[in-house]
Amino acid sequence: NFHLRLWIGIVLMGESASSLKDPNGPLFYKGSYHLFYQYNPDGAVWGNIVWGHAISRDLIHWRHLPIAMVADHWYDINGVWTGSATVLPDGQVVMLYTGSTNESVQVQNLAYPANLSDPLLVDWVKYSGNPVLVPPSGIHFKDFRDPTTAWSTSEGKWRITIGSKVNKTGISLVYETKDFIRYELLDGLLHAVPGTGMWECVDFYPVSKLEENGLDTSVDGPGVKHVVKASLDDTKIDYYAVGTYDGSSGIWTPDDPKVDVGFGLRYDYGTFYASKTFYDQKRMRRVLWGWIKETDSENADVKKGWASLQGIPRTILFDKKTGSNILQWPIEEVEKLRLNSDEFNELEVKVGSVVSLDVSSGSQLDIMAEFEVDKEALERINGTDVEYKCSASGGAAERGALGPFGLLVLADKNLTEQTPVYFYIAKGADGNLKTFFCTDQSRSSEATDVDKSIYGSTVPVLKGERLHMRILVDHSIVESFAQGGRSCITSRVYPTKAIYGDARLFLFNNATETKITASLKIWQMSSAYIDHS
Ligand code: FRU
Repeated sequence: NFHLRLWIGIVLMGESASSLKDPNGPLFYKGSYHLFYQYNPDGAVWGNIVWGHAISRDLIHWRHLPIAMVADHWYDINGVWTGSATVLPDGQVVMLYTGSTNESVQVQNLAYPANLSDPLLVDWVKYSGNPVLVPPSGIHFKDFRDPTTAWSTSEGKWRITIGSKVNKTGISLVYETKDFIRYELLDGLLHAVPGTGMWECVDFYPVSKLEENGLDTSVDGPGVKHVVKASLDDTKIDYYAVGTYDGSSGIWTPDDPKVDVGFGLRYDYGTFYASKTFYDQKRMRRVLWGWIKETDSENADVKKGWASLQGIPRTILFDKKTGSNILQWPIEEVEKLRLNSDEFNELEVKVGSVVSLDVSSGSQLDIMAEFEVDKEALERINGTDVEYKCSASGGAAERGALGPFGLLVLADKNLTEQTPVYFYIAKGADGNLKTFFCTDQSRSSEATDVDKSIYGSTVPVLKGERLHMRILVDHSIVESFAQGGRSCITSRVYPTKAIYGDARLFLFNNATETKITASLKIWQMSSAYIDHS
């Protein structure tokens, strides 16, 4: 079983099952990318959490390294939990992580590489004075976790933020430090949102309004906006918002109070959680990692002996065209896995029809697809269901005047199994169009113990823009990006028939009033090389 991505699912005879989850401490150091991750070496379920470690030259091909940190001190004996790296200007690497203590108190600990001249950063030392932070007064001892990468202040100090909650209000505390050993809690919170519950894995970073590159975490100034992301423990969803950071008070404010953290924008409308970005100084970009959990039963995971994967890393940019969201796009290195391609130009898909696309195999693909709706139909239709909601709809089978239409991935030849990724256009009584981007898992598998929900949201489509989607198909993971990454949906699906050479690809148009014209370029993808030795 080979994939396009980093995973740890090699279970040799006699070796125990394992699982991974949150990405931790991603960084670029001396020519290599490092990823650490929450790792259970003893089972396909949560528990016994230590830090797994892998390195790569290109974020695609990986080499697994020995476990970086295990639970071996009173301050992390119940788990070496999530944390972040900061690469200091002098080249030192600071790792801050949450430890669950012998009494299950959440504390913050400091660790650093034993040997900075080792490009593999194999050995890690825990600071002898750990923990460096304990829950402040007013904060429950189990609600204080996941320190961020530090950013510097104009006075040359460092700040980090740590997620928590007070009653049902999700909050992010800000601490200031000179040496990463002694910290001062600032009076103001970075941000707080009532009703959102515990904030896990907070992320906070600048994006440029002007440039096409990413920004290092400390960059600030007039051309800069700041993103706050929180992983909501109650719903297991990563929400973000774009806003303005005031360095003097340490407080961040969303641009639009209606699109605050937890209410408006999600990184991904499928399964994608506990994510974290880092600044890649080699390629001057901000890269996002996210955990894709299993959506089958725990029992099935135990049987197969492993659970969970990392998403293909994504580059993050501010969307200058809408001015209100970020764009996420698979890192360009994934294109190194592209093999031969097939092109289909201006295929017409009639009302209510399915068109088979003749590609040699449909199990590992990179698909770029553009769609055009019939102009005459667009004008003729007046007023459809603008209240449409992907998740509450009948999925790809529910017909509207102007949708759904798109692709059926991981489909077997009889279409008994299929995962539709599609657009659905609604036209308001005012004539305005609203476009939805969805993935329908309801027929993704004949297995009965898997999640079959329908995912999706609206996606901004500006005047004159064509509808565009990109889909990375990787056996049982489907990562979809609409309109250049304004909206993303990751699905974990478990086909039983549409596997390997039997996985096929189709175009479909289930709209009742419009034909669709589609142009596609589809690459077969090779597997990433993952060295488990
Ligand atoms: C998020 C999370 C973090 C915590 C870690 C423990 O998935 O719950 O808040 O640090 O996982 O594994």
